[in-house]
Amino acid sequence: MCGIVGYIGKNEAKNVLIDGLAKLEYRGYDSAGISVLNNKITTVKAKGQLANLVKKSKDFNLEGNIGIGHTRWATHGEPSDLNSHPHLTENKKISVVHNGIIENYEELREELKNKGKKFVSQTDTEVVPHLIETFYEGNLLDAVIKATKRIEGSYALGVICEDEPDTVVAVRKDSPLIVGLGDGENFIASDIPAILKHTKDVYLLNDKEFVVLEKDKVTLFDENKNEIKKDVYKVTFDDTAAQKGGFDHFMLKEIYEQPKAIKDTLAGRVIPKERIVLDNIDKDAFQNIERIFIVACGTAYHAGLIGKNAIERLSGVPVDVDIASEFRYRNPILTKNTLVMVISQSGETADTLAALRLSKERGCKTFAITNVVGSSVSREADYVLYTHAGPEIAVASTKAYITQLVALYTFALYLAQDRNYIEREKIESIKEELLTLSDKVEKSLENSKISKEIAQKIHKETDIFYLGRGMDYAVAMEGSLKLKEISYIHSEPYAGGELKHGPIALIENGTVVICLNTNKELRGKMDSNIKEVVTRGAYIVGVIPESYTDNLETYNTIIRIPDTDPILSPVASVVPLQLIAYYVAIEKDCNVDKPRNLAKSVTVE
Ligand code: AGP
Repeated sequence: MCGIVGYIGKNEAKNVLIDGLAKLEYRGYDSAGISVLNNKITTVKAKGQLANLVKKSKDFNLEGNIGIGHTRWATHGEPSDLNSHPHLTENKKISVVHNGIIENYEELREELKNKGKKFVSQTDTEVVPHLIETFYEGNLLDAVIKATKRIEGSYALGVICEDEPDTVVAVRKDSPLIVGLGDGENFIASDIPAILKHTKDVYLLNDKEFVVLEKDKVTLFDENKNEIKKDVYKVTFDDTAAQKGGFDHFMLKEIYEQPKAIKDTLAGRVIPKERIVLDNIDKDAFQNIERIFIVACGTAYHAGLIGKNAIERLSGVPVDVDIASEFRYRNPILTKNTLVMVISQSGETADTLAALRLSKERGCKTFAITNVVGSSVSREADYVLYTHAGPEIAVASTKAYITQLVALYTFALYLAQDRNYIEREKIESIKEELLTLSDKVEKSLENSKISKEIAQKIHKETDIFYLGRGMDYAVAMEGSLKLKEISYIHSEPYAGGELKHGPIALIENGTVVICLNTNKELRGKMDSNIKEVVTRGAYIVGVIPESYTDNLETYNTIIRIPDTDPILSPVASVVPLQLIAYYVAIEKDCNVDKPRNLAKSVTVE
């Protein structure tokens, strides 16, 4: 969702801000703006792509070495120049960028209007500069601290003030914000890629930590204005990780990065004939756990469905999987022997974070699988298992999903090794198999030509079905979501056995049904389900293992995937589905990396 960049230093702020905002484009936005301070604050805002802002900026004098910038994903008020950030006081002396939602903005707006403040936008954010102005008595930090005491909701704020030309003030609460530490220059940003070109040294901020950014100095304070000291976090990836590297789109690059991401996620954790070790997690941490809830949104939820299967089969611990936005409102039965596991690529998804907080309040142990070091879920959960996918820029998640699966298998085996639910030899054989997955995904990728051909055949369809049983059903859900989000084709995933209870009425001559049939134990039943749709004229695309030789005549097109233990098959079988979605979107000339209406990190509930 919204992206923030702030800068103070030796270079032209405008260039640093625009470049940083471009790196945050992946988060999703519908307008952008910057303020640059040079004696006076000059602000330019434009609806639409960043290119519009760049074009408009040419008409303004934006020279100056201090500024703030923002990409906005509209929540309160339509996307427009006026509603874009930064928002300013009437005298243009204070300028603010904000990510999050001010929940009590209506009440504050009324109060401020009664004090004579004039509002020009429909946004919740506009109360912030006015509020800061009412508290301003010559010290911007003091005024921002006081203003945040009146604000309810979530915020990451970047603030500049004409009367304090050597300072950017920032703070976060429930919205991401990091500080980049440069040489004679310093930065704030919503995410690391925005500042990576300039520095790999960052502070990962906690909630209600205030930042005073100066050219040669960064000072951190708590809400009582006590100075805080913090360790510098060294970013382990470089700027190239957040670039396309010769691929046409980030999504394709990220699909091809999957073999490496799998290896990186397993490294040091899964070693043949050795105990699985989870970073900083005590051997007995989960000894008393009797039940697990996996809570997540979207693709991460789909990974959770596979995780349930793996954990139950390997360790015997019962698992429920919940959509995070539903979990909190259904009053789940949580006890001290319940483990709540949240899965989130970004680690900032508002519903997932809220579910985590609820679970903590109820006294459960909490566990996070996330890709972002220092993200909110990683800081708030009792235990963290990082996926090592590297930065995922495309809105459609691919490599993060596959590493979530790998992390879940690793966790399931970790539990299994002390539970005696399955034989030791079985644990060992799955571990060995897990270590071959990177090569198997590599092999699936070698088959990309066939996914491309299928995409050329099906891209004009208006409805596409995905079918599978067991884990194949969970993969079908993910394949269907990928297609929907980037190609805008309506698509439904169904469990093989469920079709005849209603949806089969939709199957007619030529309806495309993508069938996953990877599990030997379920094959007979799945073959029958496929025949049910073939009889009604469906066009069948089959995703099947190399060794499968029966009933091949049922399929119109076949994609082969490497054979593997059925528990692990989702890792290889999702790859052709990702590629089909990608190539269909290309055929339809869609904006693959930034699909309409979507944001990479959904920080509102
Ligand atoms: C994935 O392709 C989606 N864009 C989306 O469903 C995503 O997985 C979901 O919003 C959860 O995000 P998170 O993993 O960052 O929490």
